Amino acid sequence: MNDSSLAFFSIRSSRESDQELVVRLYAVLPLFVVFVLMVSCSPATEPVETQDITPFVMNLPQGFPALAVPDYEQPMTRAKVELGRKLFADPILSVNGTVACATCHQAQNGFTAPVPVPAGVFGRRGLRNAPTLTNVAYNRSFFWHGGSVNLQAQALSSLENEDEMGNEADNIVRSLRAHGEYPRLFRRAFGKEVDILGVLDAIAAFERTLISGNSRYDRFERGDKSALNASEERGRALFFSSRTECASCHAGFNFTGGGFEDNGSQGAQYVDLGRYMMTANDRDKGKFKVPTLRNVERTAPYFHNGAFPTLESVVAHYNAGGKSSPNQSSRVKPLGLTAEEQQDLVNFLKALTDEEFLQP
Ligand code: HEC
Ligand code: HEC
Repeated sequence: MNDSSLAFFSIRSSRESDQELVVRLYAVLPLFVVFVLMVSCSPATEPVETQDITPFVMNLPQGFPALAVPDYEQPMTRAKVELGRKLFADPILSVNGTVACATCHQAQNGFTAPVPVPAGVFGRRGLRNAPTLTNVAYNRSFFWHGGSVNLQAQALSSLENEDEMGNEADNIVRSLRAHGEYPRLFRRAFGKEVDILGVLDAIAAFERTLISGNSRYDRFERGDKSALNASEERGRALFFSSRTECASCHAGFNFTGGGFEDNGSQGAQYVDLGRYMMTANDRDKGKFKVPTLRNVERTAPYFHNGAFPTLESVVAHYNAGGKSSPNQSSRVKPLGLTAEEQQDLVNFLKALTDEEFLQP
């Protein structure tokens, strides 16, 4: 450094007037502002958390189609999934801090609750059974009536629904911003402060990882013929037969084609209008989204209202030809199955359990 640059940082050089000093201080001001900003943004104790974009690698089971992750969720990262997993289990998201997504969608119960209609905040209940989240990423619509178009919209409605978590977006953001860990986890996942879109995207990212395709049935289909016993094999043959037509609705790798059907669950009077609530089309009264049957052994009780306590009662329902509701599908008709055949079908359904997936 030469003399004049040294002079720039000294209090006052010998030849300087007051006016010159003021000019010199103004020249330094921007540097000072930058310095203050740097200090205030980086407290010495906690380094700034930067976004972690380590990708989450999906290992899809053999035979499962590629999963289309929408653009607005890209990239799918480990940090987002882990944040979503934590949010999913955290009652902080509900209005009074008592109910989490996981309260009604419990891993060990196939991501459902073991009651006909689960209770939300203040013990309030809606009308419907909690569906499984098994392979939920493959669903084209959400809710029994299909009224929600993507996982984010679905999550927001659970957060706000009075019978579930009863909260508001502003309130959720406020409590997460005041939390000891979430601000850092959001910066790591998204490189931004807590906001409601981040909450929804993280939960959706976690839900997309709930992939189940390693049941004994899957191992059988992949060539391990010892994976099913004789009764389960007979049940499998019945399930895929034209006699029962089960697989016409519970179709494909995930045991659902995603369509809406009336399987005669309600009888002559519709208590729940189902798909009609979305389409206002009379022919949709009493129709519900065909559910996957993966892990169904663990998701009791069954149907949109949880009215059927066991798989035996469900199979008996189909065997009797349903309750003859006005829009009932012609594919639900009396089957004339023997007691043994009904048990075979039940045993086959129980072979769709993926133990590894259901670990809490
Ligand atoms: C009080 C219990 C309860 C809580 C809490 C709850 N859910 Fe649900 N969930 C349900 C019920 C009941 C349904 C079916 C409602 C319907 O179809 O009308 C459902 C439906 C869903 C579905 C649709 C699945 C499909 O294939 O149609 C998803 C996804 C879901 N919930 C995720 C969540 C997430 C994420 C949260 C937390 C933000 C959450 N749920 C909180 C009970 C609950
Ligand atoms: C016409 C289409 C259709 C046919 C055929 C059909 N199902 Fe279903 N299945 C559905 C619908 C729709 C639901 C949901 C009904 C409701 O919630 O009220 C359902 C629900 C179920 C459930 C309960 C799942 C749950 O999570 O609650 C089981 C188990 C089941 N079906 C097994 C079978 C078996 C076994 C057969 C053959 C004997 C069969 N289904 C034939 C449409 C069908």
